[in-house]
Amino acid sequence: MCQPDDSQYLIEPFDKSCHNRSAFDCGVESLDLYLQKQIDQDLKRKIAAPFVLLEVGQPEVLGYYTLSAFSVHLGELPADMTKGLPRYPDMPATLLGRLAVDQTYRGRGLGEFLLMDALHRSLKQTAKIASFAVVVDTVNEDARTFYLHFGFLPFPDRADRLFLPMKTIEKLFRS
Ligand SMILES: CC(C)(COP(=O)(O)OP(=O)(O)OC[C@H]1O[C@@H](n2cnc3c(N)ncnc32)[C@H](O)[C@@H]1OP(=O)(O)O)[C@@H](O)C(=O)NCCC(=O)NCCS
Repeated sequence: MCQPDDSQYLIEPFDKSCHNRSAFDCGVESLDLYLQKQIDQDLKRKIAAPFVLLEVGQPEVLGYYTLSAFSVHLGELPADMTKGLPRYPDMPATLLGRLAVDQTYRGRGLGEFLLMDALHRSLKQTAKIASFAVVVDTVNEDARTFYLHFGFLPFPDRADRLFLPMKTIEKLFRS
């Protein structure tokens, strides 16, 4: 597994006054445009919390992800996942809305670094706001295989939506 030297890179909340995203290019236009044009509004309106990956001491954004509160209808989850759960119609969840790495920086473990940071942050948050799982909506097949590689599970009726139970995430960071 390729892990970045985390003294070289850091992940911090996005701040438009000190982070430069104008040249960001992950190869998926909607994800580039989101970072360049929409993220400020979503942050201001509390719709998404964006976090950016930087090289220490540099303002250029090399990658980013967003987190939001979410809910999942109990009936959308695989039957074996809902055994033993209370029959509430909706389960609280965390949406990992977007995650991307600039094309120049691919294959260095930075996507994994961002994903692990997002999962760890989501887990920590459950001490204050409960969440049953982290959910992702994948933009294409490539993104889908990326998340499947890390153990995300498909929703039975939605090929583009995957989830990772918070219990699994808890075990990941316990070991
Ligand atoms: C998907 C993406 C984030 C991966 O970033 P990356 O920095 O190249 O990935 P990493 O170097 O951290 O790879 C970590 C591991 O994931 C694997 N991986 C990377 N991309 C993968 C993919 N598309 N499918 C399956 N596995 C993948 C790597 O082989 C590596 O595995 P290993 O540790 O077993 O060797 C990046 O390609 C990207 O930004 N794509 C465009 C946007 C996108 O699809 N975002 C995701 C959904 S919104």
